Amino acid sequence: MRLTVFGTGYLGATHAVCMAELGHDVLGVDIDADKIAALTRGQVPFHEPGLPEMLASNLASGRLGFTTSYREAADFADVHFLAVGTPQKKGEYAADLRHVHSVVDTLAPLLVESALVVGKSTVPVGTAAELRRRICATAPAGDAVELAWNPEFLREGHAVQDTLHPDRLVVGVDRDRPGRAERILRQVYAQSLREDTPFVLTDLATAELVKGAANAFLATKVSFINAVAEICEAAGADVTVLADALGHDARIGRRYLNAGLGFGGGCLPKDIRAFMARAGELGVDQALSFLREVDNINMRRRSKVVQLVTAACGGSLLGVNVAVLGAAFKPESDDVRDSPALNVAGMMQLHGATVTVYDPEATANSRRVFPTLDYATSTSEACDNADAILIATEWNEFRALRPEDLAALVRSRSIVDARNCLDPAQWRDAGWTYRGMGR
Ligand code: UDX
Repeated sequence: MRLTVFGTGYLGATHAVCMAELGHDVLGVDIDADKIAALTRGQVPFHEPGLPEMLASNLASGRLGFTTSYREAADFADVHFLAVGTPQKKGEYAADLRHVHSVVDTLAPLLVESALVVGKSTVPVGTAAELRRRICATAPAGDAVELAWNPEFLREGHAVQDTLHPDRLVVGVDRDRPGRAERILRQVYAQSLREDTPFVLTDLATAELVKGAANAFLATKVSFINAVAEICEAAGADVTVLADALGHDARIGRRYLNAGLGFGGGCLPKDIRAFMARAGELGVDQALSFLREVDNINMRRRSKVVQLVTAACGGSLLGVNVAVLGAAFKPESDDVRDSPALNVAGMMQLHGATVTVYDPEATANSRRVFPTLDYATSTSEACDNADAILIATEWNEFRALRPEDLAALVRSRSIVDARNCLDPAQWRDAGWTYRGMGR
């Protein structure tokens, strides 16, 4: 099939490459000429394991191309995916839909024949119905342009696997005018469907809400275990053992129950806020008011880590050296949007510490957001003369650290494990002061 993908950020670039990998002819479209030039050269503008190799092989096969021209895109295919970002509005909880609107308003007037527009971006419920009206009003093909909503659930760091082998495919169609959308999307995803991936067919509003609800549930799960971690801290219990015990209950499950520094990134924080904002607009704000508490619990973890490091440094951060290992919001990613790690690093600097950050992939992005922090190029450089070490992102190379690797470098053998990814006994036995989160 011939497909276009509008937006070549995390979501769009991954989708374009993976659709080509599935055998489709794909054109990725973006207004950012630098991004398009990089992708055309075979360079992925962010860190995502496996994606650069797949980009290269699909460029070479000729199945994948990139352009800034909407006209070229409209002529190229009759199935168009929308994969642009929906960030949080400045000073508000609601989602900013300007990129989605701009794609639709530029593309629709170029649609002279029947076409299918498929939304993948995370949007407030009701957006698809409004976009459908907008498209039908401005496309020369009018009602012959269909709109479907097909939310994306990929995780950064696992984006290729999640796109090629999703847990489920959710497709919302216009129930009043079913058209060809279901048939076309079954064809697009034929390989996944052969693997027995569940295909949930529904209306536009339900499809939009599935995404908001999924992210709200995941955020709640993390904040739930972090709230329990606060109780464990007060009671002298171990949240990691508790989580293992809870996880044996199949109704609860162990995944996403890792207590620590909490969630960040470009999705969960802004998506739960947009979900709350939309509930308010719909007059049912009470339904989601618990998400405020989810957000609060999450932000409290950041302050807790600052307290732990302060305690590790003898009660004050003034004039001490702190090594922060990890800056990305999670491992296998160079994304620092709303990263708890960088947030904590910044707070400790405000309290007078000299903070040296090392991350295997996220240094360049971190520098742009926090240029005043010091950045090291290795763990040992960051830990040189440190009064305390903070593990803020659980990269494998930090999980594998041994006390003897660092003992000779630091000024004081004190480690704060904000991701509960080390074995406390190993560090304590080697003479270190170990502090975890809720353990
Ligand atoms: C998330 C959703 O998983 C994905 O389905 C959705 O499409 C986009 O948002 P992503 O932002 O890539 O994906 O990251 P994810 O792996 O879900 O982690 C989010 C945050 O939660 C990270 O900061 C992570 O460190 C934190 N987290 C996750 C925990 O603190 N504990 C856990 O047990 C799991």
